[in-house]
Amino acid sequence: MIAETLGSSVVVQVTEALEAGVDDVMAADGYLLATPENFGYMSGALKEFFDRTYYPCLEHTRGRPYGLMVKAGGDGSGAVAAVVPLATGLEWRSVLEPLVISGDVTAEHLVAARELGGSLAAGLAGDLW
Ligand SMILES: Cc1cc2nc3c(=O)[nH]c(=O)nc-3n(C[C@H](O)[C@H](O)[C@H](O)COP(=O)(O)O)c2cc1C
Repeated sequence: MIAETLGSSVVVQVTEALEAGVDDVMAADGYLLATPENFGYMSGALKEFFDRTYYPCLEHTRGRPYGLMVKAGGDGSGAVAAVVPLATGLEWRSVLEPLVISGDVTAEHLVAARELGGSLAAGLAGDLW
């Protein structure tokens, strides 16, 4: 998928957490993580992604920008609190506030999600991050 923004384009690779591997992480210039909150934590799939990729990628991806989207029944704070230390440990840079979608998904949520992804892409295309 190509994201066109500000006259530049960014290649967007959408990969399920269970399918994403070390090579995908190494090859990307930035990351948009998305997870539900389950039992006050990130999804098991995203946890397993970090289990496989964290140490091999440590010190090889530092400084890269990332964003985070959480879908939750409540405030999503448990999932945010679970993901942020791992991204911080990798020295990824949080360039945008995490987006928490709480309760039923609304049109406004979808706009906010597009804005998060679009801003991350635009920042990468424009060398802002
Ligand atoms: C096993 C399980 C555990 C969950 N735990 C939490 C939780 O700890 N906090 C929360 O806010 N929502 C929790 N939820 C709700 C999910 O976040 C929610 O179902 C998910 O965001 C998907 O949204 P949807 O059910 O509207 O599709 C849980 C859901 C399931 C199935």
